[in-house]
Amino acid sequence: MGSSSSFLVLSLFVLSFCLTCNADQITSDARGIMINGERKILISGSVHYPRSTPEMWPDLIQKSKDGGLNTIDTYVFWDLHEPKRRQYDFTGNKDLVRFIKAIQAQGLYAVLRIGPYVCAEWTYGGFPVWLHNQPSIQLRTNNTVYMSEMQTFTTMIVDMMKKEQLFASQGGPIIISQIENEYGNVMRAYHDAGVQYINWCAQMAAALDTGVPWIMCQQDNAPQPMINTCNGYYCDQFTPNNPNSPKMWTENWSGWYKNWGGSDPHRTAEDLAFSVARFYQLGGTFQNYYMYHGGTNFGRTAGGPYITTSYDYDAPLNEYGNKNQPKWGHLRDLHLLLLSMEKALTYGDVKNVDYGTLTWATIYSYQGKSSCFFGNSNADRDVTINYGGVNYTIPAWSVSILPDCSNEVYNTAKVNSQYSTFVKKGSEAENEPNSLQWTWRGETIQYITPGRFTASELLDQKTVVEDTSDYLYYMTTVDISNDDPIWGKDLTLSVNTSGHILHAFVNGEHIGYQYALLGQFEFQFQRSITLQLGKNEITLLSATVGLTNYGPDFDMVNQGIHGPVQIIASNGSADIIKDLSNNNQWAYKAGLNGEDKKIFLGRARYNQWKSDNLPVNRSFVWYKATFDAPPGEDPVVVDLMGLGKGEAWVNGHSLGRYWPSYIARGEGCSPECDYRGPYKAEKCNTNCGNPSQRWYHVPRSFLASTDNRLVLFEEFGGNPSSVTFQTVTVGNACANAREGYTLELSCQGRAISGIKFASFGDPQGTCGKPFATGSQVFEKGTCEAADALSIIQKLCVGKYSCSIDVSEQILGPAGCTADTKRLAVEAIC
Ligand code: GAL
Repeated sequence: MGSSSSFLVLSLFVLSFCLTCNADQITSDARGIMINGERKILISGSVHYPRSTPEMWPDLIQKSKDGGLNTIDTYVFWDLHEPKRRQYDFTGNKDLVRFIKAIQAQGLYAVLRIGPYVCAEWTYGGFPVWLHNQPSIQLRTNNTVYMSEMQTFTTMIVDMMKKEQLFASQGGPIIISQIENEYGNVMRAYHDAGVQYINWCAQMAAALDTGVPWIMCQQDNAPQPMINTCNGYYCDQFTPNNPNSPKMWTENWSGWYKNWGGSDPHRTAEDLAFSVARFYQLGGTFQNYYMYHGGTNFGRTAGGPYITTSYDYDAPLNEYGNKNQPKWGHLRDLHLLLLSMEKALTYGDVKNVDYGTLTWATIYSYQGKSSCFFGNSNADRDVTINYGGVNYTIPAWSVSILPDCSNEVYNTAKVNSQYSTFVKKGSEAENEPNSLQWTWRGETIQYITPGRFTASELLDQKTVVEDTSDYLYYMTTVDISNDDPIWGKDLTLSVNTSGHILHAFVNGEHIGYQYALLGQFEFQFQRSITLQLGKNEITLLSATVGLTNYGPDFDMVNQGIHGPVQIIASNGSADIIKDLSNNNQWAYKAGLNGEDKKIFLGRARYNQWKSDNLPVNRSFVWYKATFDAPPGEDPVVVDLMGLGKGEAWVNGHSLGRYWPSYIARGEGCSPECDYRGPYKAEKCNTNCGNPSQRWYHVPRSFLASTDNRLVLFEEFGGNPSSVTFQTVTVGNACANAREGYTLELSCQGRAISGIKFASFGDPQGTCGKPFATGSQVFEKGTCEAADALSIIQKLCVGKYSCSIDVSEQILGPAGCTADTKRLAVEAIC
């Protein structure tokens, strides 16, 4: 057989192979991403696999799908997968293949943001810290050592996906991959080398031949064939750098992350929906919520500094995987409507009509039908426009959608879906004592030089520790003779550190600690000390609370004690200073002794757990208690009120760092939140003056029904006596829906036990609304359908969820003169 005929046979083979595997061809043009030649509206949400557990994934993906998403997006976390160079880990919640297959199982598309720099409020932005220690390396720039490591990891991930046939080009769910992350925001700091690097990233990625498009977010010089995409709270004004690229939005921030010492940010459903509707109004075809499910920063994965363990993000699915209502429902209504208009949006002719005063109509016409968006971007002015001879009032900061250009089916400022509040309930575990029985053991502080190795200078903490622990001991000795000029004087130990926490010990005595205040990570620690004649041990224990994850050269930010470290003797007007920084021998030890011994596993070994004289408010104590799992399926949290700062484990799984003693800043919260006007992370905060995080998620899959071990490492000192396990359940469900709407009412995982209020007509008042001032109750108005309450009771009580057509047919005549009637209902969960 000649070579051309063998080529033909091979092609036929490949073709038939791909036909059997249902491979999709993914292409793009200026109007969108095309799957097998057909443009799609892609509505996506970020769900990061390691921020939940494999047992949670199917439910999270199901709820995303029910919420009208057709795509799930995740980053890939290099540090998790390659914690030591060339030692890989894809087990448990690091099982990326299992996660992508879970997306596939529900028929959703996937976007794989490989990075491998990801930011993501993840420690060191997702880079493994060993990378930093490679000779001659410079991260995120034109450096061959770095590029070779980046290429090795990226290729490994791509090959792993290919091997499992997970790219759409192979019949899998992955339709798009991302290389790098927001490099355009920092590129200038890397000068020409930055441009060379981004060009190299593009070539390297393209050569991996995934058969699906590559994106680069926030990269307005993205080289072909990369598609540059937008991130932010609003991206309707974005245009990609290439006229043939679709308008894509990789991060629509659904809320914001939280810091230790910070309050809880919220972004309203109305504003988020407004940003999405405007984006699709103005030609967008791919939009991704960052985050759709934020989840939990287990272990020491939280970045920062000072990112909390909870990464709830005020996302449509809350940290525990419950629907954050009304956000989830209000967006679902929007998604379903947009998807129903897919053809018009992606193929229709587009006409924009400017009504002045920040008001536009956009009309999509396709096959003789038209769909309209009316957008009003005024922050405080409702506008009435006349379209087709009819007046339409568009509330300030909203978009109305009229799929037939005549009836308003959706307005981003008018929420019809249910509101839910969540309550925490004490564990109903049988035989659970009112308070846990604690045992304890002390952490053995490392006072003794020379530690593990020595250096004659102060070293950067992450360089030494390589992210194996939060802790690093810096130890030195000072010899004092009686002719030393500082002998007999009042002495102060002074240490300059770049964070985040410093404990000092002199001759084995803990003389105090200090932590950086949020945002001020550089600080000076000073305490008066006493030295003895002869040898004195100075032991400094530095703790990091998440490595920096963002900014130009973020990887080079110094962490830990950089000095000077001085002993200052007061001597009238001229202090005498003994500088220990670089002229002393420093001994180092990474990690706590208890970490080396894996005390967090809570094993009973050596009977070293004591039950008497339980220490309270003493630093460096390990606590242990056993407990039964709260029955049922509601998410479980542990309330760590009373503790200081440390880390918690359940059955050997780290729940993450805890720090309930860090009170969220008192300013910046307000009881009101106006959805109108541009959102920023400080706009609508709650929880000022309370612990920035009090409750910690304990995934059900960490628990057995009885005899679970909780271990705490308490660094500052606290009292564990009020620690309790609780479940998180929906408190009530309220809705205020317009006539014509189909209201889904549910208690999220439990049956609706009663209907406290229902009125169909012109009900007044509010219920369950966050930020609402005044009383949170519905009241009946001037007209109402006589039997609405009993009809709804019949439809809903005892059910997990019920669906109510808000109409006179179902609820009876309301006898109202008003055009639009509403149903107000409050369910008891
Ligand atoms: C973006 C970044 C994300 C995340 C986000 C804030 O700049 O790409 O990874 O850090 O900010 O949550």
